[in-house]
Amino acid sequence: MANVHLVMAAVVVVLLVSLSFASVSASAIGTTKQQKQPLRFSKTGEFRILQVADMHYADGKTTPCKNVLPQQSAGCSDLNTTAFLRRMIVTVKPHLIVFTGDNIYASDAKDAAYSLNAAFSPAVSSNIPWAAVLGNHDQESTLSRAGVMKHIVGMKQTLSQFNPPEVDKIDGFGNYNLEVHGVEGSAFENKSVLNLYFLDSGDYSTVPSIDGYGWIKPSQQLWFQNTSKKLQRAYKNKPKAQKAPAPGLAYFHIPLPEFANFDSSNFTGVKQDPISSASVNSGFFKTMVEAGDVKAVFVGHDHLNDFCGELTGIHLCYAGGFGYHAYGKAGWDRRARVVVASLEKTEKGGWGGVKSIKTRKHLDNQLLTAVDVQVLWSH
Ligand SMILES: *[C@@H]1O[C@H](CO)[C@@H](O)[C@H](O)[C@H]1NC(C)=O
Ligand SMILES: *[C@@H]1O[C@H](CO)[C@@H](O)[C@H](O)[C@H]1NC(C)=O
Ligand SMILES: *[C@@H]1O[C@H](CO)[C@@H](O)[C@H](O)[C@H]1NC(C)=O
Ligand SMILES: *[C@@H]1O[C@H](CO)[C@@H](O)[C@H](O)[C@H]1NC(C)=O
Repeated sequence: MANVHLVMAAVVVVLLVSLSFASVSASAIGTTKQQKQPLRFSKTGEFRILQVADMHYADGKTTPCKNVLPQQSAGCSDLNTTAFLRRMIVTVKPHLIVFTGDNIYASDAKDAAYSLNAAFSPAVSSNIPWAAVLGNHDQESTLSRAGVMKHIVGMKQTLSQFNPPEVDKIDGFGNYNLEVHGVEGSAFENKSVLNLYFLDSGDYSTVPSIDGYGWIKPSQQLWFQNTSKKLQRAYKNKPKAQKAPAPGLAYFHIPLPEFANFDSSNFTGVKQDPISSASVNSGFFKTMVEAGDVKAVFVGHDHLNDFCGELTGIHLCYAGGFGYHAYGKAGWDRRARVVVASLEKTEKGGWGGVKSIKTRKHLDNQLLTAVDVQVLWSH
């Protein structure tokens, strides 16, 4: 009898220990990276985000460029993508680099891990935090979608997360959010004044009756709604209430069908590709409008589109193709999008909430020319 009790007690102890261990490690995966070193606005009240869409990285030096002018072909490879990223980092000095999918063009990549390491290496060696989501091509080499995201999450300097730790079941890999805190030493130094959402927009439809690309599933939208609600409630929290909930920005790969609601009369930039969204409307645009905090959405996927247009209070923006092994248009420069959020200066010389969110693009020419400066939101 006594022995049985001892064994039972031992089992209970082991269970308790492993349960608490499991919950510690689950939250560690999700949040410690961000908490250790929260993103925050600079001393000058700015936060700059560099968006890199569609690097389509493969094997490096041996992978040729696509769609460049005949005189640019010789000696052009993935290494030109690397050089462009390095120059953008030095010039823009971003506080965060966001890679919006098709980071690798995996069907041409011999070894997915090698290609991912090479593709992100300028971000890693810059010591600047970076975040990535998956496109529709990232899983076509030696790693599955889950495997690619796991690899990314394990890399240095990244704030990417595999999935939200508090949610049991969610579609896709790489759904997470990041908070950007106020200036160090200011009233909002421990509060989020800008919220970033990252979602996996999928690869291809797995529904037999539906062709084409993937979409953001109800489980992901539920997580977004919950998270947005929670973040928006926090504006009243101590030590100092913000004037209003923090604005949000969403990053993913595949455009929503609503990107087709524009023409040159109401967007800034160009549209030279069809809008390759899923053939079903997931309702995510409506979900974001109802949530109320997201002011702009940033995607890639259609390399020859780089426009931003506003629909019912949300700007829908393409970045334009970045990578030299991605299809492009000869003579039309590869490009990247930059977002700059600026804080309001208070009368007492402190910093308030976000006052404006602006965007521009930089072209990969000698001067990294900035084009299409526009205000996405102001308060
Ligand atoms: C690619 O990089 C090489 C080596 O730096 C350079 O000479 C060439 O101009 C680049 N090509 C393009 C299209 O940027
Ligand atoms: C922010 O948190 C740190 C560490 O807990 C604390 O020392 C500081 O006073 C807090 N700042 C504000 C404005 O509440
Ligand atoms: C959303 O919140 C509800 C209510 O708090 C909870 O039951 C549910 O598990 C949450 N779902 C996700 C995906 O976050
Ligand atoms: C943009 O303008 C076109 C007409 O040129 C119109 O059909 C469309 O609804 C407008 N889109 C938005 C979002 O206002």
